[in-house]
Amino acid sequence: MAVTIIVGAQWGDEGKGKVVDLLSEETDIVARYQGGANAGHTVVIGKKEYVLHLIPSGIFHKHVTCVIGNGVVIDPVALMDEIAMVKSFGIKIDGRLFLSHNAHLIMPYHKLLDSIREQGVNKIGTTGRGIGPAYIDKYTRTGIRVVDLLDRTVLRNKLRTNIEEKNQLLRQMYGSKEMDVDAIIAEYEAFDKKIDPFITDTSLYLSEAIRKKKAILAEGAQGALLDIDHGTYPYVTSSNPTSGGACTGLGIPPTAIRNVIGIVKAYSTRVGNGPFPTELNNETGERLRTIGGEFGATTGRPRRCGWLDMVSLRYSIRINGIDSIALTKMDVLDHFEEIPVCVGYRRKGKKLAAFPTDVRALEEIEPIYKTYRGWKEPIKEARSFRQLPAAARAYVKAIEELSGVRISIVSVGPRRDQTIIR
Ligand code: IMP
Repeated sequence: MAVTIIVGAQWGDEGKGKVVDLLSEETDIVARYQGGANAGHTVVIGKKEYVLHLIPSGIFHKHVTCVIGNGVVIDPVALMDEIAMVKSFGIKIDGRLFLSHNAHLIMPYHKLLDSIREQGVNKIGTTGRGIGPAYIDKYTRTGIRVVDLLDRTVLRNKLRTNIEEKNQLLRQMYGSKEMDVDAIIAEYEAFDKKIDPFITDTSLYLSEAIRKKKAILAEGAQGALLDIDHGTYPYVTSSNPTSGGACTGLGIPPTAIRNVIGIVKAYSTRVGNGPFPTELNNETGERLRTIGGEFGATTGRPRRCGWLDMVSLRYSIRINGIDSIALTKMDVLDHFEEIPVCVGYRRKGKKLAAFPTDVRALEEIEPIYKTYRGWKEPIKEARSFRQLPAAARAYVKAIEELSGVRISIVSVGPRRDQTIIR
């Protein structure tokens, strides 16, 4: 039993990249299990910042093998760009990166449909990376998988059928320009040549690794509250970032999971539309955004900011089975006199017992806050829990008490060394 799942416990952007990179030191394999290039995992090494969208955040450790599992939707253009970026830093990729033969491919028409749909009435605020439309094709069973690249005839036939169908949709529903079938076929055939050495039965590879008791990190993207089943539907992504998604998204059994680490930002952020009970539409929210550098790593969009929400966190802990927490971006709170934490929800004057996932209910929530004292001093240099100011230690302990889960890692800055392990 060797698998640890790293899951975003809020709305994504919790700092999973840093934690995965850190834990990779003692890991053999890092495997991404869902989402696609909508993710932006930032890793800071020394003075350099790297943003990964598809390649697992373990790639910066030479001894780590990286896997992109069957649950991921792969944009070949984004993947090739990212491979080139990683290689340009002198990092060897060959023999260290494997793509599942069962993963679905994102096609140009998926990105086009994603952006056209966002111009309609039901705006989700997607990243425009074609994620939803690619998963639609997966579930309507017309999707094109990595394995299809291996057989030119199959690839051509499937692409032709799909593009003709999408052209009809574009013409009839959206009055948009049609796509050139032959150009897309040529593009994907060229991609096939480059991607061939990376394609593997990753489920089989991982099951061998589990048998050999290798240490495996399953890296989730986005966050639990964006989960298609358990998030704030319809304002969610189209996959399962929750821990259950790791088994289906990698083809590994639940019995192989040893523990689940929830990544929790010391406050809350959300990108895109949808309810956000502790959102601060004021100067304080603006300060959190500026100090925390809260702008999307993929789209550059300003993130919505607010205080930590224990009601949604307790829900996230429950559905993910989180057994320890990595608390990130704690240093962003250095500047605040007081730090409110949402400890309960009230709706129409009544206290709620649990997190409602119904959007209408969530939009009517009145958060109940408990206010903690700020520490008002820099904590970036703290390397042990004892070195934190008393008020910062009290904040960490309060979150532990309110969540019932131990905080095993506290991140006090973006760099690897700016971390407290407890
Ligand atoms: P999609 O995943 O691009 O379809 O977008 C659906 C929703 O998930 C939108 O609100 C996005 O802003 C959000 N989202 C997708 N990926 C991320 C991420 O990596 N971090 C935070 N939010 C994300």
